Amino acid sequence: MLVLGIETSCDETAVAVVEGPAGPQPVGRILSNTVYSQLTEHRRFGGVVPEIAARAHLERIDGLIEQALAEAGVGLADLDGIAATGGPGLIGGVMVGVMTGKALAFAHDKPFLAVNHLEGHALSVRLTEPVEFPYLLLLASGGHCQLLTVRGPGDFTRLGTTIDDAAGECFDKTAKLLGLGFPGGPAVEKAAAGGDPKRFALPRPMWRKPGCDFSFSGLKTAVRQAAEKLDPNDATAVADLCASFQRTVGDVFADRCTNALALAPMPTLVVAGGVAANVYLRSRLEEVAAAHGATLVAPPVRLCTDNGAMIAWAGVERLRLGRVDALDFRPRPRWPLDPTATTAKRV
Ligand code: KG4
Ligand code: ZN
Repeated sequence: MLVLGIETSCDETAVAVVEGPAGPQPVGRILSNTVYSQLTEHRRFGGVVPEIAARAHLERIDGLIEQALAEAGVGLADLDGIAATGGPGLIGGVMVGVMTGKALAFAHDKPFLAVNHLEGHALSVRLTEPVEFPYLLLLASGGHCQLLTVRGPGDFTRLGTTIDDAAGECFDKTAKLLGLGFPGGPAVEKAAAGGDPKRFALPRPMWRKPGCDFSFSGLKTAVRQAAEKLDPNDATAVADLCASFQRTVGDVFADRCTNALALAPMPTLVVAGGVAANVYLRSRLEEVAAAHGATLVAPPVRLCTDNGAMIAWAGVERLRLGRVDALDFRPRPRWPLDPTATTAKRV
């Protein structure tokens, strides 16, 4: 089963070809995984500009599809399905990917699969690891921070979510305050490597409270106040603040996942989304999983941040269940994984 995956929901134009397994078991093969990162387009604005992103996707998408097919050594006629991110995300970019996917599906008479970007992250672990359903998932990206149980494609129960900011957003803000550049996650992780994680005592919102919700706005404010007091040229202080911040996020993740594992015991804890690329946070979650007799499984670091392979893989998972989308699918700027979940509140 060969599926082309198109990802255009934020600032990465990404296209991949993935081969699905013959049977119902997980683990696929990535035949190509191309990405054009729009970092240079957005850098001088210090964040992603939606209109610029949409135009850049439009300029690059055709060339990337050609490249992904060439690298995979397949033609459009060989494909079994065409998957594109259908939301949630910046709507201009999502429209570019969806329109391109639909046009290819129509012209070549292939099934079209509109993939929820969050489901792409949620299922991505099964592309490379033989993880069975159900599992507990911590999904932490630039726009989301949620704990969910995953029973299968389209079958999620949300145990908790952030009541304000996402964890990735907090990493990006910390990097910006300290002049470490954009995107912030990798820069903060690098700076934290030599720092003292105990130097700054930062607040741990929601820590030791019942439930599985998150909050990061208080932490963001505390980091801003600490950053304002320190000399940005003092590399030791910057490293110490990054390390203290990262440890605090680790404490919060560990605490929330402990509650989730108690509430919904599962043999596997999965972490996915851009923040899952953080090696320190992965090690903290490994400890939490082990303490509950569970195992932490995460996608390889390079597949944690946005990529086309996770969209193609979610397409494989849906295609083998026959969950194909019609060509009148409308891009969805908002698209919760668990539509029954209510808004989280401060406790
Ligand atoms: O999943 P993703 O690529 O895009 C969204 O769907 O949002 O996640 C991007 C987020 C950014 O906030 C970025 O700073 C964060 O993931 N991130 C990291 C690391 N790499 C990326 N955060 C912490 N440590 C990292 N190594
Ligand atoms: Zn993402």
